[in-house]
Amino acid sequence: MDHFQLRDGVLHAEDVPLPLIAEQVGTPVYVYSRATLERHARVFRDALSGVENPHIAFAVKSNPNLAVLRVLANMGYGADVVSGGELTRALKAGMKPEDIVFSGVGKTHAELLQGLEEGIGQFNIESEEEGYELAAIAARHGKRAACALRVNPDVDARTHEKISTGKRENKFGVPLDRAADIYARLAQEDGLDMRGVAVHIGSQLADLEPLETAFGKVGALIAELRGQGCTVTHADLGGGLGVPYKAGEELPSPAEYGEMVARVTKGWSVQLMFEPGRVIAGNAGILLSRVIRSKRSGNGPPFVVVDAAMNDLARPAMYGAWHDFDAVVPTGDRMTAHIVGPICETGDTFAMDRECDALVAGDLAVFRTAGAYGATMASSYNSRGFVAEVLVDGDKFAVVADRIAASAIMDAERVPEWLA
Ligand code: LLP
Repeated sequence: MDHFQLRDGVLHAEDVPLPLIAEQVGTPVYVYSRATLERHARVFRDALSGVENPHIAFAVKSNPNLAVLRVLANMGYGADVVSGGELTRALKAGMKPEDIVFSGVGKTHAELLQGLEEGIGQFNIESEEEGYELAAIAARHGKRAACALRVNPDVDARTHEKISTGKRENKFGVPLDRAADIYARLAQEDGLDMRGVAVHIGSQLADLEPLETAFGKVGALIAELRGQGCTVTHADLGGGLGVPYKAGEELPSPAEYGEMVARVTKGWSVQLMFEPGRVIAGNAGILLSRVIRSKRSGNGPPFVVVDAAMNDLARPAMYGAWHDFDAVVPTGDRMTAHIVGPICETGDTFAMDRECDALVAGDLAVFRTAGAYGATMASSYNSRGFVAEVLVDGDKFAVVADRIAASAIMDAERVPEWLA
């Protein structure tokens, strides 16, 4: 459930009519709802009531806006970060260092050092090589890094191939059959406190079964590790729970996920950790845009050209993803249209042959479920700027990220004198 609903025929974000935001901030603009973020954070936490003392780290990559992170920090969430930039953001937003988990296959020397210096809670080590590098840095600085070893369980998450991470051929983690040996070797390092295992098999999972299979393998690994004398006190089960992108679509609920987790992990005697992203932020945001014009080419449906484009919301172009598209002031009339942005490539298509509210030039419309992997994946392709972001809270709203004009991006460019 989200707080983007029609009231008196006008789509609102909580108590704020979207035309007001369009008028004051311009379009395209991302709009987030604080109440929805908080609701999702609560629902996810409540779903884990069958688990003792879960640690929940919001996947910052899904929505790194500082205000969004602050909302979640206030809810007691930690952060799952994958870069020095995300770590800096999480800290700036008020997340406690000890509640931060650092994931990612390519942490640089500087990033490992940054994590150590900030005193983060856990590094999720993705290779033996990374483990030794971190151990050396830690030892040199007289520190000990708390670590989990990320394993690749070779499970097909049955999601889009580009966001599937737990198959043998994917770059993530260490192969399950080598994990126990690698863990034991890394546990010998003075600079490392090997305390757990981590797994994350993919994103937008529409089915709990692959997760259950992966968690089962992690449970067996924990038993094996303990059997060989290793200490395991933590298990990080990653993120991945999918969200409905189409009205009426049914996906496993957080409650069902929580029940499965409680059942599968019973008797593990570890602190469980979670890294949800999309399930918290996805339906807490929309991308508000304005129709530039409608045009026809060929005999098919009209092309509705909106002022948002693939650079603002990359998911449809990148994954063929579906985002519901609704008028802000629906007339009740419907149409079939191709929904496209202004960018000069055919890939800049949000939807083909979409049945949607009838729209004409100047109308406002929203792409729903854009709160996760939306603004954060933006680029400035076609010398378009970066979209503004707004956070709504009841009847008030604030710009939480300024629109960055193409000219501001150009300000960072230079023509060298020798080209004069
Ligand atoms: N933990 C790790 C280690 C991850 O790699 C990810 C997402 C998450 C947690 C959060 O997963 P979530 O709960 O959000 O599914 N850009 C793509 C999604 C990429 C996800 C990458 N990893 C999209 O727009 O669908």
